[in-house]
Amino acid sequence: MTEVQEILSRQVFSHEDIVRLLAITDPDESEEIRRTACAILEQTCGRKVYYRGLIEFSNWCVNNCFYCGIRAGNRRVRRYRLTEDQILEQARWCAEQGYGSIVLQSGECREEEFIDFVERVVHRIRRETVSPRLPQGLGITLCVGEQRRDAYERFFAAGAHRYLLRIETSDPELFARIHPPSQRFEDRVACLRSLREIGYQVGTGVMIGLPGQTVEHLARDVAFFRDMDVDMIGMGPYIPHADTPMGAPDAAPVLPPDARLALSLRMIAVCRIVLRDVNIAATTALQAIVPDGRERGLLHGANVIMPQLTPTEVRRDFLLYDGKPCVDESAAQCRACLAMRIAAAGREVGVDEWGDSPHALARQRGCIGGSCAADRRG
Ligand code: 5AD
Repeated sequence: MTEVQEILSRQVFSHEDIVRLLAITDPDESEEIRRTACAILEQTCGRKVYYRGLIEFSNWCVNNCFYCGIRAGNRRVRRYRLTEDQILEQARWCAEQGYGSIVLQSGECREEEFIDFVERVVHRIRRETVSPRLPQGLGITLCVGEQRRDAYERFFAAGAHRYLLRIETSDPELFARIHPPSQRFEDRVACLRSLREIGYQVGTGVMIGLPGQTVEHLARDVAFFRDMDVDMIGMGPYIPHADTPMGAPDAAPVLPPDARLALSLRMIAVCRIVLRDVNIAATTALQAIVPDGRERGLLHGANVIMPQLTPTEVRRDFLLYDGKPCVDESAAQCRACLAMRIAAAGREVGVDEWGDSPHALARQRGCIGGSCAADRRG
């Protein structure tokens, strides 16, 4: 057995093991990691790929993240917010297509009117998408940033059952380098804990290939996901946006795109190997680097894809990074294109299902840490 094979056969991974796996450059060893990730995926989650119809319903944002195209300080962005009826129309289409779940994503806003709006939309989507095929209506994932705990509680009571809040990096120093001081690492972690306490299935993630980020940082990100006991992961390559401080001509250089892509795919595979039964998204940012980026994500252990449902009129206004793909395609075109991509990856689509991660379902049954959950918590 080689050293890498020996690491891959473990159930519990040390920091050094994870660094070793992330740092591999040998093509045969890379392929071995990828194949192990796929085998674990099949064992723990099966072969299905679950859709989350993505509606980017507002690009208003109070934050000024140094990397993000819709930061408050970017005056070149045309700001929009979809109406309740526009969102509902997309949600109904999503349910009719057999996508069992939806993601509602926006920039961060905390005023009362926004909280009321989100609560109302969630409530309506759950009620108005009930059908014999989907007796509980669409599953709803929210991605609306840091909020007060009572807002999280209200969204949960209205029917949202998953929440995505990326930590961006689990290293407090690196976090402080890519955010203004008003955004605090501890607040983000506190939000993740509140979400879990309230009962959400919690997702987080990081950007990969940030200037100054090392494989040690990424290995600690994987440990952070494990220690926070998350149910879902969404992560992808960092892609500079020209109208941001980190995308400015004099900003710190980033790795070339192929290196950022390779590292992102490796992170997906290593997360699958270490975390086993969580849902992992093949994110759109992968496809911003190469046209088949999302298929490659699936082939490295991802099992969730987010088809675009944002109306085409506003899709160009939700540009978090340059070169975002699919901005001109209609929702129907995205559907056809993704079906082709999933088939090309030799996988099938989970139709009319919420597609919760086995990890979340085991927790709901009260099994995490007990004899019926894979013992990966070290
Ligand atoms: N490159 C890659 N991902 C980005 N995000 C924001 N800006 C960028 C960028 N320039 C990601 C962040 C955020 C998510 C909504 O989009 O991780 O949490």
